[in-house]
Amino acid sequence: MNWSALRADFPILDQKVHGHPLVYFDNAATSQKPQVVLEALRHYYEHDNANVHRGIHELSNRATTAFEAARARAAAFINARSADEIIFTRGTTESINLVAAAWGQKNIKAGDKILLTEMEHHSNIVPWQLLAERTGAKLAFLPITGDIGLLDMNRLDEWLTKEVKLFAFTHISNSLGTINPVVELCARARKLGITTLVDSAQGAGHRPVDVQEFGCDFLALSSHKMCGPTGFGVLYGRQEVLADMPPYQGGGEMILSVDFHTSTWKPAPHRFEAGTPDMSGAVGLHAAMDYLDKIGRKNIAEHDQELGAYAYERLSRINGIRLFGPHIGRAGLVSFLLKDVHAHDVVTVADQRGVALRGGHHCNQPLMRRLGVESTARASFYFYNTTAEIDRFVEVVEEIRKFFTA
Ligand SMILES: Cc1ncc(COP(=O)(O)O)c(C=O)c1O
Repeated sequence: MNWSALRADFPILDQKVHGHPLVYFDNAATSQKPQVVLEALRHYYEHDNANVHRGIHELSNRATTAFEAARARAAAFINARSADEIIFTRGTTESINLVAAAWGQKNIKAGDKILLTEMEHHSNIVPWQLLAERTGAKLAFLPITGDIGLLDMNRLDEWLTKEVKLFAFTHISNSLGTINPVVELCARARKLGITTLVDSAQGAGHRPVDVQEFGCDFLALSSHKMCGPTGFGVLYGRQEVLADMPPYQGGGEMILSVDFHTSTWKPAPHRFEAGTPDMSGAVGLHAAMDYLDKIGRKNIAEHDQELGAYAYERLSRINGIRLFGPHIGRAGLVSFLLKDVHAHDVVTVADQRGVALRGGHHCNQPLMRRLGVESTARASFYFYNTTAEIDRFVEVVEEIRKFFTA
């Protein structure tokens, strides 16, 4: 695969920042968008835009067809059994909030436990805290093994107790680069009748995702982290689980009939999509999924691991650097701290050299506390990044270290 050639698909990458060629290493926050996605959005608004599911005129039919085609495409992308298992949302955060509100309201009561892990993003913690406050349920956190950042699988049995009703965990850690053993985690929970939710915000655009192989009940993903538009995403829910779930929000499109005092609901997935949806988001995500599958998600995963391993190895040679996450088998991102240099200083100086990093808690405050740090600097890669860019980044980090420790 000629990875460098793919850069031509991303007009934004071809620019200088503060006089230097842009090195975009903030892909875990959001990815860039290829020309085919930009064109799909433009084509939709120039030719087909109308509200979906409502009109019987030509444009409404076309918009509805495009919207539902995106649902079928999303189902194929994650190997769901049916397009009815695909709910469109604003992204991973809304997908998780939807489960916490709708499934949680029906299935969680005082004394129940919701099991999370110590490496969760705030969007896979706070919705459960809100649910726990409403219901009197408790939260528990499967520990990690320290800076290496693996889940402590030896202690999983201890944490999967009979009070646990839901186990929600991340596919790939956005701070550590850990790739979690999703199939095993789901299987161990399922044996005990525990419902599972996989946060695949960092996974779905980077490696093959097969919800049937995973054996999960729910899976959440964000379009903007996988070459698609912002403000759009997917919640996968296993058909049997969705059939039993009350609505999330009320409004147009999710009802069968409305009376002054009562209403009846459509079946899934439309029961969970109140109001006018983001039609262009669906069209853009469809184009993004086609684009990613043309490259091949297995290829992307291999390239990610090569970039992750290369960056980890090059950084590990820098004096006094502290690296987080697994040594081997890591995803395409590296978090680090330079001795006596604040992560924000690293990111600010790197920006002056055209290198876009992220510094902070990465919406992982509990994980940062667990690691005994306030923040880290993070470089996160996508398939359009190259080892030459990593060389440039490492050179800049070395320069920063020398400047701050001279
Ligand atoms: C692991 C993980 N989960 C959830 C999210 C939230 O995604 P979004 O902001 O697209 O809803 C992120 C975003 O950084 C993430 O990295």
